[in-house]
Amino acid sequence: MGFAPFLAKAGSTRSKASPVTKPLLAALAGETHAVPPIWLMRQAGRYLPEYRELRAKAPSFLDFCYTPAMAAEVTLQPIRRFGFDGAILFSDILVVPDALGQVVSFEKGAGPQLEPIEEPAHLSRLRDFDAEKLAPVYETIDRVKSALPAETSFIGFCGAPWTVASYMIAGHGTPDQAPARLFALRHPQAFAQLIDILVDASAAYLLRQIAAGVEAVQIFDSWAGVLPVNEFENWVLGPLERLIAKIRAMRPDIPIIAFVRGAGSQFPAVTRRLSGANAFGLDTAMDAAFAASVTPAGKALQGNLDPLALIVGGDALKRETDRVLSALRVRPHIFNLGHGILPETPIAHVEQLLSIVRNQKV
Ligand code: CP3
Repeated sequence: MGFAPFLAKAGSTRSKASPVTKPLLAALAGETHAVPPIWLMRQAGRYLPEYRELRAKAPSFLDFCYTPAMAAEVTLQPIRRFGFDGAILFSDILVVPDALGQVVSFEKGAGPQLEPIEEPAHLSRLRDFDAEKLAPVYETIDRVKSALPAETSFIGFCGAPWTVASYMIAGHGTPDQAPARLFALRHPQAFAQLIDILVDASAAYLLRQIAAGVEAVQIFDSWAGVLPVNEFENWVLGPLERLIAKIRAMRPDIPIIAFVRGAGSQFPAVTRRLSGANAFGLDTAMDAAFAASVTPAGKALQGNLDPLALIVGGDALKRETDRVLSALRVRPHIFNLGHGILPETPIAHVEQLLSIVRNQKV
């Protein structure tokens, strides 16, 4: 059979009155296509020589994020090179703490460094969130949207309250987010206050990104998987539900992707509680067939190739890609990794992946 990326298969749930012509937005609208749209988390980054070259010209990573000409260029680099269906805004989840007045920097080789929030009194160091402090991000959006190919969808993003709070409290990356979990157990009220601040700030920030021109938003809860189930309810499900409701109240039509990494046995609860989202990201460890069986019809699933298979390439990449494709073929699917692309990934393997996904026999 031929290749028919835009032919809706039986089971498409969308009304035919206003066809969505961008493949990624069509999947978010609940359409099932023979060839899924594809983009990769962290697709702009160090595995690309053109990224490393431009990055070397910026004094710091935050300066890089806040220089619209540079941020727009690196947003577009992977689109030019690979023709992905989605372009993700180049920025970072930690611009929100920066706008809240926390001291944030990125040290070479050491990842993000923030002035840690070690006790409840430190919350008073934060200032009110003003979305306009992040004006360079909206200018980046403005530049990218006029430069994108007509078929490419533009994705904005933020970190989820729990994930962002975990960096704000520890002051750096940790393997298990123990500092934030200890803080939440010792000072639940102060922690709830920080989470509320982040729900409000993230909603204002995403709404401003949408006003500037992104066509969908993804919320990254990269550290959801470290929490016991009651804390998962308090710090992941509750805050994400409130954040999504705030966006929905203002923008009923904007597609929202919730990436709750490490949800595991809580994945069915994620799909029930975050019913305002259009799509759920699947992490590398999630059984895609299980996820497909518990997710309500009409919701898209995004994922979930192992980023290590992309490093290995060859037969391992073919086998793992086919596994993801066949598990999610029956429903709206956005092909992606189960977490961000790693810096050591060979470019030839990204090309191999695109050719497997786009030239698959259906
Ligand atoms: O996806 C994209 O291409 C868009 C840009 C993007 C970045 N960070 C750029 C970046 C996105 C969507 C993020 C999200 C992000 N940032 C998350 C959530 C997703 C995930 O991976 O779990 C998190 C937890 C962060 C925080 C962060 N930023 C860390 C822990 C680090 C250091 C580790 C690393 O990957 O280098 C960063 C730095 C960062 N953010 C880089 C990039 C391209 C590398 C910085 C550099 O170029 O030196």
